Amino acid sequence: MKFFLDSANLQEIKEAISWGVISGVTTNPTLVSKEAGPFEELVKEICRLLQDNPVSVEVLSTTSGGMVEEARRLAALAENVVVKIPMGVEGLKAVYRLSSEGKRVPCNVTLIFSANQALLASRAGAAYVSPFIGRIDDISWDGVGLVRKIMDIFTCQKLDTLVIAASIRHPLHVEEVAAAGAHVATVPFSVLRQMSRHPLTDLGIERFLADWEKTRREEKI
Ligand code: G3P
Repeated sequence: MKFFLDSANLQEIKEAISWGVISGVTTNPTLVSKEAGPFEELVKEICRLLQDNPVSVEVLSTTSGGMVEEARRLAALAENVVVKIPMGVEGLKAVYRLSSEGKRVPCNVTLIFSANQALLASRAGAAYVSPFIGRIDDISWDGVGLVRKIMDIFTCQKLDTLVIAASIRHPLHVEEVAAAGAHVATVPFSVLRQMSRHPLTDLGIERFLADWEKTRREEKI
């Protein structure tokens, strides 16, 4: 399973890239709204930092025609832009056009809350689908269970759309979607940092250093 960073913050993105674990970035209008500066410049800079890796950027239009137009503008900003299209009939029409007409634009269909939505998005031509597991848990459904179901269906139906587990809220979500076979987990930076830590690791380092210091002191005496 690959990790994408779910962020539009340049500091977080640079830091996560330096860890060597990030294979892409996903943004959404909420994440972008937290950042300063012109939107298109921010997108170009994120895409430059990610080199050949995919960067999902979401459209705001609500009609298929508007989505297609916006998607083409976003795709022209950098080679590695993936256009995020919200699920729905208008979204499906837009994905179908973007994946079959003219210069193809890879699409990530977002706000997926059922396996049927994922199936439709895949058939329309989506390169990625993004089930939002945290928001499903928020309403007492099973977000990880949905990822498991989509993976089972996509595997037995031999669909090549990649599944991005999104709306990840904590490290256990990451382990569970990995076990479910998700192709990608897009994680906020705070979760990525939590994943790297364990109290026993900290304690172990502390003990090694203390033992080393003690030996060295004894050597010097
Ligand atoms: O990748 C989608 C994600 O940004 C949504 O997360 O926490 O707002 O449900 P959240």
